[in-house]
Amino acid sequence: MKDDSRLFRLIYASTPSIAFGTTDQLVGEMIFASSLNNARVGITGLLVADDSFYLQLLEGDRQAVTDTFLRIAQDCRHSGIQLLDASDQRDRLFPNWAMSMLGASESRSRLLARHRKSAMFIPHELSATEAAQFFIDVSVTACTYQDLCPRTVIYID
Ligand SMILES: Cc1cc2nc3c(=O)[nH]c(=O)nc-3n(C[C@H](O)[C@H](O)[C@H](O)COP(=O)(O)O)c2cc1C
Repeated sequence: MKDDSRLFRLIYASTPSIAFGTTDQLVGEMIFASSLNNARVGITGLLVADDSFYLQLLEGDRQAVTDTFLRIAQDCRHSGIQLLDASDQRDRLFPNWAMSMLGASESRSRLLARHRKSAMFIPHELSATEAAQFFIDVSVTACTYQDLCPRTVIYID
């Protein structure tokens, strides 16, 4: 892992484009390409993909995170991008995953229900603190099937 003395974390929410959607294969390919890019610049993080939203955390060197986010923000596979949190940090929440996806499961549904502000979980409604707390919650319960594989799906207990 690169020098983390200037660790930065960014969390954003967006809405998937209909053409892209959230099918396992399409998101899987995107995660695979993303993890290769991210590993090159020392970024780690997590993507939560659902039919109606993406919620992603990126952590690493501030310039690398900024450059990556600006590229992601221009991607036509999603829109309605909203920055939820961008802040200096001491430690990474997901040090082992250059980019991973939180796999759908009953535990994930329960987690989303715990963090929802209205009838459904809508990440755009989260404050910066709530968005960070969501990912902290994931990080303490996450386990992974394939720690060293760049194409990783994380499941929570
Ligand atoms: C929801 C979403 C999340 C993405 N996450 C990342 C990411 O973490 N890292 C990354 O390099 N690209 C990510 N991308 C893809 C970028 O938008 C862009 O297509 C890619 O970085 C271009 O890489 P390339 O120049 O190697 O083709 C994401 C795209 C979407 C729609």
